[in-house]
Amino acid sequence: MSDQKAALEWRDGDIPVSTRFDDPYFSLADGLAETRHVFLAGNDLPARFRPGFRIAELGFGTGLNMLAALIAWRASGQPGRLIYTSFEAFPLSAPEIGRALRAFPEAEAVAAPFLAQWATGARQILLDDLEAEILIGDAREMLPRWGGQADAWFLDGFSPAKNPELWSGDLLAEVARHTAAGGTFATYTAAGSVRRALSDAGFAVERRKGHGNKRHMSTGRLNTDD
Ligand SMILES: C[S@@+](CC[C@H](N)C(=O)[O-])C[C@H]1O[C@@H](n2cnc3c(N)ncnc32)[C@H](O)[C@@H]1O
Repeated sequence: MSDQKAALEWRDGDIPVSTRFDDPYFSLADGLAETRHVFLAGNDLPARFRPGFRIAELGFGTGLNMLAALIAWRASGQPGRLIYTSFEAFPLSAPEIGRALRAFPEAEAVAAPFLAQWATGARQILLDDLEAEILIGDAREMLPRWGGQADAWFLDGFSPAKNPELWSGDLLAEVARHTAAGGTFATYTAAGSVRRALSDAGFAVERRKGHGNKRHMSTGRLNTDD
């Protein structure tokens, strides 16, 4: 699979903005706090962490969500490795990720071992407490072929208006198909089309308060068959 690079510009110094999608990689307000609110709390983490817990993500970007999850995993004192799988079509380079993470000292402080491996071209990252794999390519092709399952999904494409391919009904049906029993998703968007697609895919979708001044976000748990 060809490695298509991200197309970036930097706003206000160190905020990466995709010129391909005309959208920032994370909240201009406080990306780390938003990640924690939307993706961690939205999936009821760290409370649901247990040994071997599996997170999957659409849109790896700067790795900020992964690092926030790793920080939470460490703080929770779970033994063993957090399993993290992310799908990314346009990977950032290690220097680009390093620059983006400067805005978040807490994430930057734990990023070095990951970045050292990423800089070599490795897309499987192994630390004492993290087993991560970033699957490079269009998620619409890669996810149907993925053999894994996730206990929690971070749905983090660019906005549905600008990046509709990461929010299509077909892809979200694949998300559900790759969700373990009792598994959940969280996303910052409350767009009706996304909520309907996730509901059609088999999730009980819930609207929660969004981060900061955003009114709503969405979470959901996979319906059981009975
Ligand atoms: C909002 S950013 C993700 C931010 C990221 N989670 C972080 O922690 O920095 C959305 C990401 O989705 C990726 N993306 C967009 N379309 C995609 C597709 N069809 N398949 C896979 N990745 C895609 C973009 O390249 C971008 O990195």
